[in-house]
Amino acid sequence: MTKVILLCGSPRENSNTMQVLEECAKSIESKGVETEIVNLRGLNIQSCVGCNACKTKGNCVINDGLDEIIEKIRKADGFIPAAPVYFGTARGDIMAALQRIGKVSRGNDKFLSWMVGGPIAIARRGGTSITLQEMSMFFNINEMIIIGSNYWNMVFAGAEGTALQDTEGIETIKLFGENVANLLNKIKN
Ligand SMILES: Cc1cc2nc3c(=O)[nH]c(=O)nc-3n(C[C@H](O)[C@H](O)[C@H](O)COP(=O)(O)O)c2cc1C
Repeated sequence: MTKVILLCGSPRENSNTMQVLEECAKSIESKGVETEIVNLRGLNIQSCVGCNACKTKGNCVINDGLDEIIEKIRKADGFIPAAPVYFGTARGDIMAALQRIGKVSRGNDKFLSWMVGGPIAIARRGGTSITLQEMSMFFNINEMIIIGSNYWNMVFAGAEGTALQDTEGIETIKLFGENVANLLNKIKN
Protein backbone atom coordinates (compact mmCIF):
# COMPACT_ATOMS: atom_id res chain seq x y z
CA MET A 1 0.00 0.00 0.00
CA THR A 2 1.11 3.55 -0.68
CA LYS A 3 2.60 5.03 2.48
CA VAL A 4 3.81 8.39 3.79
CA ILE A 5 6.25 8.77 6.69
CA LEU A 6 5.88 11.95 8.76
CA LEU A 7 8.87 12.92 10.91
CA CYS A 8 8.39 15.00 14.06
CA GLY A 9 11.38 17.11 15.09
CA SER A 10 10.11 18.29 18.48
CA PRO A 11 11.49 17.12 21.85
CA ARG A 12 8.32 18.14 23.74
CA GLU A 13 5.77 15.67 25.03
CA ASN A 14 2.69 17.74 24.21
CA SER A 15 4.20 19.01 20.99
CA ASN A 16 2.62 21.45 18.58
CA THR A 17 4.60 19.88 15.76
CA MET A 18 3.10 16.50 16.60
CA GLN A 19 -0.42 17.97 16.68
CA VAL A 20 0.13 19.42 13.21
CA LEU A 21 1.47 16.12 11.87
CA GLU A 22 -1.51 14.25 13.29
CA GLU A 23 -3.85 16.55 11.35
CA CYS A 24 -1.72 16.13 8.23
CA ALA A 25 -1.74 12.33 8.61
CA LYS A 26 -5.55 12.26 9.02
CA SER A 27 -5.91 14.26 5.85
CA ILE A 28 -3.62 11.92 3.91
CA GLU A 29 -5.43 8.85 5.22
CA SER A 30 -8.81 10.33 4.21
CA LYS A 31 -7.61 9.80 0.62
CA GLY A 32 -6.75 6.15 1.19
CA VAL A 33 -3.00 6.52 1.70
CA GLU A 34 -1.36 4.92 4.74
CA THR A 35 0.69 7.05 7.16
CA GLU A 36 3.10 6.58 10.03
CA ILE A 37 4.40 9.34 12.28
CA VAL A 38 7.92 8.80 13.58
CA ASN A 39 9.50 10.94 16.27
CA LEU A 40 12.98 12.17 17.09
CA ARG A 41 11.86 12.74 20.68
CA GLY A 42 13.99 10.71 23.09
CA LEU A 43 16.68 10.08 20.49
CA ASN A 44 20.06 11.76 20.69
CA ILE A 45 20.58 12.43 16.99
CA GLN A 46 24.17 13.12 15.97
CA SER A 47 25.30 15.10 12.96
CA CYS A 48 26.77 13.41 9.89
CA VAL A 49 30.51 12.89 10.39
CA GLY A 50 31.23 12.59 6.65
CA CYS A 51 32.83 9.15 7.02
CA ASN A 52 31.17 7.90 3.80
CA ALA A 53 30.77 4.44 5.37
CA CYS A 54 27.11 4.52 4.24
CA LYS A 55 28.34 4.22 0.63
CA THR A 56 29.56 0.70 1.28
CA LYS A 57 27.33 -0.35 4.20
CA GLY A 58 24.04 0.90 2.78
CA ASN A 59 23.07 2.55 6.04
CA CYS A 60 24.47 4.98 8.60
CA VAL A 61 27.08 3.60 10.97
CA ILE A 62 26.19 6.05 13.76
CA ASN A 63 24.23 3.94 16.22
CA ASP A 64 21.63 6.35 17.62
CA GLY A 65 18.34 4.96 16.32
CA LEU A 66 18.12 6.94 13.08
CA ASP A 67 18.74 3.86 10.94
CA GLU A 68 15.34 2.42 11.95
CA ILE A 69 13.71 5.62 10.73
CA ILE A 70 15.77 5.53 7.53
CA GLU A 71 14.51 1.99 6.82
CA LYS A 72 10.90 3.17 7.20
CA ILE A 73 11.50 6.07 4.82
CA ARG A 74 13.29 3.79 2.34
CA LYS A 75 10.14 1.64 2.03
CA ALA A 76 7.73 4.59 1.83
CA ASP A 77 6.39 6.65 -1.08
CA GLY A 78 6.13 10.00 0.68
CA PHE A 79 8.07 11.90 3.33
CA ILE A 80 7.03 14.92 5.43
CA PRO A 81 9.49 16.27 8.00
CA ALA A 82 8.17 18.90 10.45
CA ALA A 83 10.30 21.15 12.65
CA PRO A 84 9.75 23.61 15.43
CA VAL A 85 11.53 26.89 14.69
CA TYR A 86 14.43 27.55 17.08
CA PHE A 87 16.12 30.96 16.79
CA GLY A 88 14.79 31.54 13.30
CA THR A 89 15.77 28.19 11.78
CA ALA A 90 14.83 24.51 12.12
CA ARG A 91 15.66 22.78 15.41
CA GLY A 92 19.14 21.31 15.02
CA ASP A 93 18.51 17.62 15.31
CA ILE A 94 15.98 17.45 12.47
CA MET A 95 18.52 19.02 10.12
CA ALA A 96 21.13 16.55 11.39
CA ALA A 97 18.65 13.74 10.67
CA LEU A 98 17.79 15.05 7.19
CA GLN A 99 21.46 15.39 6.27
CA ARG A 100 22.17 11.79 7.28
CA ILE A 101 19.00 10.45 5.60
CA GLY A 102 20.02 12.26 2.41
CA LYS A 103 23.59 11.02 2.57
CA VAL A 104 22.49 7.40 2.91
CA SER A 105 20.05 7.77 -0.01
CA ARG A 106 22.52 9.51 -2.31
CA GLY A 107 25.32 7.06 -1.56
CA ASN A 108 23.18 3.99 -2.22
CA ASP A 109 19.80 3.22 -3.76
CA LYS A 110 18.58 6.84 -4.01
CA PHE A 111 15.39 5.87 -2.22
CA LEU A 112 14.41 9.53 -1.83
CA SER A 113 14.27 10.10 -5.58
CA TRP A 114 10.67 10.88 -6.69
CA MET A 115 9.43 10.63 -3.11
CA VAL A 116 6.46 13.00 -2.64
CA GLY A 117 6.08 15.42 0.30
CA GLY A 118 7.37 18.68 1.67
CA PRO A 119 8.49 20.37 4.87
CA ILE A 120 6.36 21.90 7.65
CA ALA A 121 7.47 24.61 10.11
CA ILE A 122 5.91 25.48 13.48
CA ALA A 123 6.77 28.67 15.35
CA ARG A 124 5.43 31.00 17.98
CA ARG A 125 5.97 34.01 15.74
CA GLY A 126 8.99 34.24 13.39
CA GLY A 127 11.34 32.22 11.20
CA THR A 128 8.94 29.88 9.42
CA SER A 129 9.84 31.00 5.87
CA ILE A 130 13.56 30.51 6.37
CA THR A 131 12.93 27.18 8.09
CA LEU A 132 10.85 25.98 5.13
CA GLN A 133 13.56 27.10 2.72
CA GLU A 134 16.23 25.42 4.84
CA MET A 135 14.34 22.12 4.86
CA SER A 136 13.43 22.39 1.16
CA MET A 137 17.13 22.16 0.29
CA PHE A 138 16.98 18.52 1.39
CA PHE A 139 14.10 17.83 -1.03
CA ASN A 140 15.67 19.56 -4.02
CA ILE A 141 19.07 17.89 -3.82
CA ASN A 142 17.50 14.45 -3.47
CA GLU A 143 15.24 14.59 -6.58
CA MET A 144 12.11 14.74 -4.43
CA ILE A 145 8.71 16.18 -5.39
CA ILE A 146 7.58 19.08 -3.17
CA ILE A 147 3.80 19.51 -3.00
CA GLY A 148 2.02 22.83 -2.54
CA SER A 149 -1.01 24.03 -0.60
CA ASN A 150 -2.91 27.34 -0.72
CA TYR A 151 -0.39 28.92 1.65
CA TRP A 152 3.06 27.90 2.89
CA ASN A 153 3.25 24.98 5.31
CA MET A 154 3.50 27.00 8.51
CA VAL A 155 1.53 26.86 11.77
CA PHE A 156 1.82 29.42 14.56
CA ALA A 157 1.77 28.18 18.16
CA GLY A 158 3.86 28.92 21.22
CA ALA A 159 2.65 27.14 24.35
CA GLU A 160 2.54 23.34 24.21
CA GLY A 161 -0.52 21.75 22.65
CA THR A 162 -1.99 24.92 21.15
CA ALA A 163 -1.37 24.31 17.44
CA LEU A 164 -5.00 23.59 16.60
CA GLN A 165 -5.89 27.16 17.56
CA ASP A 166 -4.20 28.39 14.37
CA THR A 167 -7.13 27.35 12.21
CA GLU A 168 -5.76 28.91 9.01
CA GLY A 169 -2.43 27.13 9.48
CA ILE A 170 -4.15 23.80 10.13
CA GLU A 171 -6.36 24.19 7.03
CA THR A 172 -3.20 24.84 4.99
CA ILE A 173 -1.64 21.65 6.32
CA LYS A 174 -4.80 19.59 5.71
CA LEU A 175 -4.92 20.73 2.08
CA PHE A 176 -1.20 19.99 1.72
CA GLY A 177 -1.86 16.47 3.05
CA GLU A 178 -4.71 15.94 0.58
CA ASN A 179 -2.52 17.14 -2.27
CA VAL A 180 0.29 14.77 -1.26
CA ALA A 181 -2.17 11.87 -1.26
CA ASN A 182 -3.82 12.94 -4.53
CA LEU A 183 -0.51 12.97 -6.38
CA LEU A 184 0.56 9.66 -4.87
CA ASN A 185 -2.75 8.12 -5.92
CA LYS A 186 -2.19 9.36 -9.49
CA ILE A 187 1.39 8.06 -9.61
CA LYS A 188 0.77 4.73 -7.92
CA ASN A 189 -2.70 3.66 -9.09
C1 LIG B 1 15.33 27.32 21.92
C2 LIG B 1 14.04 27.81 21.33
C3 LIG B 1 14.07 28.74 20.32
C4 LIG B 1 12.90 29.20 19.74
N1 LIG B 1 12.98 30.10 18.72
C5 LIG B 1 11.86 30.55 18.13
C6 LIG B 1 11.93 31.46 17.04
O1 LIG B 1 12.99 31.82 16.55
N2 LIG B 1 10.76 31.89 16.50
C7 LIG B 1 9.54 31.52 17.01
O2 LIG B 1 8.54 32.00 16.52
N3 LIG B 1 9.45 30.62 18.01
C8 LIG B 1 10.58 30.13 18.58
N4 LIG B 1 10.49 29.21 19.59
C9 LIG B 1 9.15 28.70 19.99
C10 LIG B 1 8.79 27.38 19.30
O3 LIG B 1 9.05 27.40 17.91
C11 LIG B 1 7.30 27.08 19.51
O4 LIG B 1 7.02 27.03 20.88
C12 LIG B 1 6.83 25.82 18.85
O5 LIG B 1 5.44 25.69 18.99
C13 LIG B 1 7.48 24.59 19.45
O6 LIG B 1 6.97 23.42 18.84
P1 LIG B 1 6.81 22.04 19.64
O7 LIG B 1 5.74 22.26 20.69
O8 LIG B 1 6.42 21.07 18.62
O9 LIG B 1 8.14 21.75 20.24
C14 LIG B 1 11.64 28.72 20.19
C15 LIG B 1 11.61 27.76 21.22
C16 LIG B 1 12.80 27.31 21.78
C17 LIG B 1 12.75 26.25 22.86
